[in-house]
Amino acid sequence: MKQQIVQFKQEVRNTIFMTEEDLEQFRIRFLGKKGILAVLFDEFKQSDPSVRKELGKELNELKQLAENSYSESKTLMVPVGVNAGKKIDTSLPGFPQPVGSRHPISILRNKIIEIFSRIGFTIAEGPEIEDDWHNFSALNFPPEHPARDMQDTFFIEKDESGNGNDIALRTHTSSVQIRLMEHGKAPFRVIMPGRVFRNEAVSARSNCFFHQVEGLYVDKNVSFADLKQTLFYFVLEMFGAGTEIRFRPSYFPFTEPSAELDITCSNCGGPGCNICKYSGWVEILGCGMIDPDVLKNCGIDPEEYSGFAFGMGIDRMALNKYKTGDIRLFFENDQRFLSQFNTVI
Ligand code: PHE
Repeated sequence: MKQQIVQFKQEVRNTIFMTEEDLEQFRIRFLGKKGILAVLFDEFKQSDPSVRKELGKELNELKQLAENSYSESKTLMVPVGVNAGKKIDTSLPGFPQPVGSRHPISILRNKIIEIFSRIGFTIAEGPEIEDDWHNFSALNFPPEHPARDMQDTFFIEKDESGNGNDIALRTHTSSVQIRLMEHGKAPFRVIMPGRVFRNEAVSARSNCFFHQVEGLYVDKNVSFADLKQTLFYFVLEMFGAGTEIRFRPSYFPFTEPSAELDITCSNCGGPGCNICKYSGWVEILGCGMIDPDVLKNCGIDPEEYSGFAFGMGIDRMALNKYKTGDIRLFFENDQRFLSQFNTVI
């Protein structure tokens, strides 16, 4: 008999009730007038007095277990609604919490960082509020130089004496190059992501702030071939095999020679569309060999070291890649827009 009671205890513990019917069947089987407990108690009355004490204890435990299991499960049954009479299944997963998504600009920035870190570039950052020296003068934009007008600047403090003590929001991440070269020691192989600001009319294709990734490579015997190969590698990794590149001569005060890099339009693949303004090419970055004067400004001997730099804008890239049609959408913080870019990189 004891063996039986132990087995029934196990059965009670293992029973799962999903509906009121399960519960009723259990009640009849264990707690009913002719149920298991009633039968066992009858048997118990006739049992040998020498084992009564032990059996009585086991039997009471079984009774307690069955009654508790029944009443606890009954209170967990849903009383009304479509699920009335069913048990609340505490093992079901809860309602999922919405998971945030990466910002499209961050997705592209992370991808750019990842590609360059594979070929040995480290990452550096600099301040968004810059002095004249780091944003302009050290980069070969002397005071009054017309090239300063290439980038419409938001000034925070304007030095009216013209001595170049202005404080401004940085207009490009090239300022970080200067900070790095001033304080570090060559060789350098660094990329510098960051936000930059220009006092430009806000439109569907341009904003008064945007995101750049700057690259700097300084070592002995660095040539334009190294620049070309590094950027070619980047373009293939970023935009896929088959993408062609084209260098166009350009001008930046801090690089000589300077170039702009175009890639074949990934939207139309060449014939021309509204994204590439029907040229088949899209400009993605500016680059060039670092002007020896810039190296000198940072205490690096241009006879010993040479290098290249490049700077690319992420926002335009995002505009072309995601075809959102309007650059401003990226910064309106509209969840419905942002949640569409759920690639986590
Ligand atoms: N700083 C330049 C710009 O913002 C880009 C650039 C970076 C060009 C490095 C050459 C070298 O337009």
